[in-house]
Amino acid sequence: MAAPPLPQPEASFETRFPADFAWGAATAAFQIEGATRADGRGVSIWDTFSATPGHVIGGGTGEPASDHYRRYTEDVALLKSLGIGNYRFSLAWPRIQPDGTGPGNPAGLDFYDRLVDELLAGGIEPWPTLYHWDLPQPLEDAGGWPARDTALRFADYAETVYGRLGDRVGTWCTVNEPWVIAFLGYASGEHAPGRREPASALAAVHHLLLAHGLAAAAIRDPGVPGAPAVGIALNPQPIRPHSGSVADLDAARRVDGVRNRIFLDPLYHGRYPDDVQADLAGVSDFAFVRDGDLPAIAAPLDFLGVNYYSPASVTGAAGAVDRELLEPDGADPSPLVGCENVGLLSGAAPRTDQDWEVDASGLTELLVRLAVDYPGTPLYVTENGASYRDEIGDDGAVHDPRRVSYLDQHVRAAHAALAAGAPVKGYFVWSLLDNFEWAYGYRERFGIIYVDYDTQRRIVKDSGRWYGRLASTGAVPPLDGSA
Ligand code: FCB
Repeated sequence: MAAPPLPQPEASFETRFPADFAWGAATAAFQIEGATRADGRGVSIWDTFSATPGHVIGGGTGEPASDHYRRYTEDVALLKSLGIGNYRFSLAWPRIQPDGTGPGNPAGLDFYDRLVDELLAGGIEPWPTLYHWDLPQPLEDAGGWPARDTALRFADYAETVYGRLGDRVGTWCTVNEPWVIAFLGYASGEHAPGRREPASALAAVHHLLLAHGLAAAAIRDPGVPGAPAVGIALNPQPIRPHSGSVADLDAARRVDGVRNRIFLDPLYHGRYPDDVQADLAGVSDFAFVRDGDLPAIAAPLDFLGVNYYSPASVTGAAGAVDRELLEPDGADPSPLVGCENVGLLSGAAPRTDQDWEVDASGLTELLVRLAVDYPGTPLYVTENGASYRDEIGDDGAVHDPRRVSYLDQHVRAAHAALAAGAPVKGYFVWSLLDNFEWAYGYRERFGIIYVDYDTQRRIVKDSGRWYGRLASTGAVPPLDGSA
């Protein structure tokens, strides 16, 4: 006789979120839209970078991606059918200003206009992000984010977009993950535009923050009822010292500085941290900071977006230093500018297929830390998810129990932060669809909906159904999706 099924510990009690908790799914323009030549779209740095052999695993580019530019109505219908009430997407700057300046390209603006209308008609709240990494190539040719003018151009772009969509969109996210843009784009060169100039990366940090501040000012209309909510999506990371030794604690302080506080302190306190500036003195004198910049950056945020995937464990012990971070001859430069004597440690935690650690406790730790160190702002988990290389099963379905488990652990971790008093107001799964995962190309699949890139057929994965049930009920469903 078959053994009776074991009860699942999670199923024995219910984890329920507040009724007004925002459940959403996230994407980004370059990762899903495809149609890179359509309707007057200009070239972005990711078109250029991905077209260069050796930059992207498998040689993937922005074509065809998930063909969302042509299939957006189908994708919005999927959101609706799953009961997901909020959709975070980004706007492609090169669709709207093909050269990065000048009046808006009507066809580009029309696309987002139609998308917003489609979402609203489906009862789904649009959460646009103005910049998710696809800088118009002409702006990079003029200096890119290390050049101050790019921040001014961004404010113009924001104003153009707001002028068209502001009557229907109440929540705006300016920049997605400035850490990735600055340090992977301009220090390690793993991302577009592929430059390896640590000093430029620090100038990029400042100009991205300035871009956020100027754009926020451009799209806020103080004192007007119904004024838009403006925030930024960071990817702060819990940085854990390997031990309590002085060297490990100092390593954690330094990495926390360039990973987290270099963004959070200007945004919340209007200054770069003294210790971070001292650590980076050999790289930059921060002369890019001009009068008035920091007050613009520190204008109060209406919300903070938090993208979380994994924590990091670091050591400063001699001999335990990760080779990559030492920049030995031939190795890639480190994105951790100013942390050359620090090592990253691999923990024993399970890993996704992309080799990212699965450790949901880091999400609780991060949200609680933000609530304590940077209080007063609603927090939204604007990205969280996992890549598993799913395949279509013999039954035609996509069974992804590891992703269900990942999401289950992480939403519970967000709930634990809420229970501890952190003002967590929403959660967006990364990602709605399988898509172009930057330097990893199409190998990684983060979607709760599978995309067959040959046919562009969408198949809702088990995780999509599980997440839809969570989004519709506010209660964490059992892992197997049973009632
Ligand atoms: C984040 C990015 C997002 C996606 C996920 C996996 O850093 O913002 O576009 O690539 O990682």
